[in-house]
Amino acid sequence: MALSHFKGRDFITTRDFTKEDLEFLLDLSSHFKSMFYGGMRKTLRDVLEGRNIALLFKKPSTRTRNSFQVAASRLGALSVYMRPDELQLARGEPIIDTANVLDRYYDGLVIRTFEQAEVEEYARYMKNPVINALTDEEHPCQAMADLLTIIEKKSRLDGLRMVYTGDVWNVCHSLITVAPVFGIDLIIAVPRGYEPLPEIWKFGQDRASRNGTRLEIVHDIREAVKGADIVYANTWWSMGKPEMEKEKRKIDFKPFTVTADIMNLAKEDAIFMHCLPAYRGNEMTTEVIEGKWSVVYDQAENRLWTEAAILAALIS
Ligand code: CP
Repeated sequence: MALSHFKGRDFITTRDFTKEDLEFLLDLSSHFKSMFYGGMRKTLRDVLEGRNIALLFKKPSTRTRNSFQVAASRLGALSVYMRPDELQLARGEPIIDTANVLDRYYDGLVIRTFEQAEVEEYARYMKNPVINALTDEEHPCQAMADLLTIIEKKSRLDGLRMVYTGDVWNVCHSLITVAPVFGIDLIIAVPRGYEPLPEIWKFGQDRASRNGTRLEIVHDIREAVKGADIVYANTWWSMGKPEMEKEKRKIDFKPFTVTADIMNLAKEDAIFMHCLPAYRGNEMTTEVIEGKWSVVYDQAENRLWTEAAILAALIS
């Protein structure tokens, strides 16, 4: 496979990409990381030299914004960060005009917003690639960094058991789309009443049955983590969820807090993952996120390398 296979494509959901495509991007991520730490910073800068990348973020971000901007810089591209309230979008300029104009200035658009349909709308009007930096539905760039981190820590993906606990929302949805593709058993341990979007669940179930992997929702985290290779926690209350749901969620999810006791039920070499931001005392204890199991900062760093690969593949 060559970089030209990806040129001009959008990265809105991993569902649009084959296992081989995603493997290529993961290999490229590792390659860029090795180049950087192997003293080849200057060579890396040739990859997107002279390119310009727009970031349009409607929600706050620490990792996604900074990792994309530093990834662009390390590949030699200029990135420009924009909030919608600073654009004429705030005064009612339609997406069709904004998208067409940004397309004339930039080689790609990285967008974080609420509805997946809005990202798709930008992609419809733009010839250059549009990259999903998180919607309510999916967080595909996070899933890529998660896969790279697992490969680095476990030297494989196939046959691993991952237990996810936290809001059944974008991060969970993206894990549902990739885990069965790579042979990972994904056990989602959440309170009753928290369900994934039906079309995402169907995609995951189809892939799981085709590939012979497990994809289940269970309600007992202690049972779920037995024999787990990976315990993945996420906030109980994602960005954009109504404030009034917060207290109910705290009560519903309380039995699912990942404690050291819970981690000790997993395999001896189990790792703890979290997409961050993390809320100590809610989805996990301080002892877990700052303890021997945690790989969360490596996971956060890998946002940068997987996004570098996505930018390079789509834009160079
Ligand atoms: N994990 C993640 O997307 O972090 P940010 O919200 O800080 O970008």
